[in-house]
Amino acid sequence: MNLPPVGLGTMGIDDPDAVATALSLGYRHLDTARIYENETVVGEGLAAGLAGGEFDREDVTVATKLWIDDLAADAVAPAARESADRLGVDAIDLLYVHRPRGDYDPEATLPALDRLVDEGLVRNVGASNFELPDLDRAVDVLDAPLAAHQTELHPLFYKPKLLDHAREHGYPVVAYSPLAGGRVREVDAVVEVADAHGTTPEAVAIAWATAKDPVVTIPKASSEAHLRANLAAANLELTESEVAAIDAVEREAELFPE
Ligand SMILES: NC(=O)c1ccc[n+]([C@@H]2O[C@H](COP(=O)([O-])OP(=O)(O)OC[C@H]3O[C@@H](n4cnc5c(N)ncnc54)[C@H](OP(=O)(O)O)[C@@H]3O)[C@@H](O)[C@H]2O)c1
Repeated sequence: MNLPPVGLGTMGIDDPDAVATALSLGYRHLDTARIYENETVVGEGLAAGLAGGEFDREDVTVATKLWIDDLAADAVAPAARESADRLGVDAIDLLYVHRPRGDYDPEATLPALDRLVDEGLVRNVGASNFELPDLDRAVDVLDAPLAAHQTELHPLFYKPKLLDHAREHGYPVVAYSPLAGGRVREVDAVVEVADAHGTTPEAVAIAWATAKDPVVTIPKASSEAHLRANLAAANLELTESEVAAIDAVEREAELFPE
């Protein structure tokens, strides 16, 4: 599965052109969710991108998520099929449990996801917003390897222990809201590093996150300028002391609590 350092977060994107533009610029990981109500938009953008003929369907990781009311054993398959239909794909490359809440029951939900992998509708199973005990349970119960954990990670909020767990078990962490929803330019330590490199706080936030093993990011952007800048940010190299200065920023409450 292709999870480059910068993918596209699509929450709030309601125009397929933004997705098609991202793909034409080189984005190869699209992140959506049923609850964002834009799987059709993402699918239309993907179809438009594929029509351009510059890349193949298998080059792109299409990720979506089952909401907490789609997690009962008999709800998982129909919900996944509906998501695949809206996305216009034969198979979902990465299907996450959006949150381990609501109808989530690891012993029922995860075997239902394993069955979808066996059937070929889903290629990889991911977790999102899990804590350490939820992750341990998922690793134990799933037949398929846990393929990714998507969690909030930006200069104002992250949990280092979740990265330790990912390293230990060999799956990537997909950092969501890597720009703190657009707030990274309010963080002095980030602004200082950006000034030193003659770049933006957003680029520094992405470079800081991707400097951490095993982290990839999914900033959301809608304009071509932001899409380009965020992709290029993966090439920005921070020094160890710059990374440490941002690590030392006082953590705030997460943007997306329960
Ligand atoms: N699993 C979960 O529970 C969960 C929760 C939240 C988010 N997510 C995922 O993570 C993705 C990203 O998170 P997010 O949407 O909360 O926020 P984000 O990526 O941290 O920030 C997005 C904001 O930053 C702006 N922006 C983007 N690039 C910029 C740049 N280069 N310079 C200045 N501003 C820039 C965007 O504006 P423009 O749109 O105008 O470019 C938008 O307002 C979501 O789209 C979603 O896919 C997952």
